[in-house]
Amino acid sequence: MSPESPLPRREEGQGEGLPVEELGTRGWFIRDRFSGRAREARAHAERQLLEPAGIQRGAIHDVEVRSDHTAWLDDSPLQADFEALRLELNRTAYLGLRRFDLQLARYEAGARYVKHRDAFPGADNRRVTAIVYLNEAWRPEHGGQLRLHVNPPVDVEPVLDRLVVFLSERIEHEVLPAHAPRWALTAWYYG
Ligand code: OGA
Ligand code: NI
Repeated sequence: MSPESPLPRREEGQGEGLPVEELGTRGWFIRDRFSGRAREARAHAERQLLEPAGIQRGAIHDVEVRSDHTAWLDDSPLQADFEALRLELNRTAYLGLRRFDLQLARYEAGARYVKHRDAFPGADNRRVTAIVYLNEAWRPEHGGQLRLHVNPPVDVEPVLDRLVVFLSERIEHEVLPAHAPRWALTAWYYG
């Protein structure tokens, strides 16, 4: 047996069906063609003013950890889709999610986000992370995959209108270095 960890699998989203149950069992799921409004959301995103993402070490912004630029949004064309997802998660997975914050992130070529969790048990009440990608014509050589550190690891290509959902406290993940501008909208749902 090799002591090395297995190579990440490439995961394709499921267009049909509701694999929401998988959130309770394995802790994540992917769905393609989430909203149909992703192009509109990308155009809206490009009109926003973004700032270096807020990971602070002391007073210094730590680009070693996270080198993307972000903005908080409350008027994205996908706002209603994220709200519908909240209701669906509550109906299907009984999560009791009460609200969400929505963050736009842009990774320039070379930007990344090292392995992390989005919440720690007890630290706050972020319960579910939902990310929608806004990149048309994304190709594997553009990098920027979302790597879910599950067993075996899974790499998700950040392609237009793909949704990935996972439990914020449970799933470690990272953004591999992007080689082209990479846009994502992330909702964090609170209990
Ligand atoms: C985050 C994050 C992943 C992605 O913003 O916390 O992990 O694929 N984003 O953009
Ligand atoms: Ni994260």
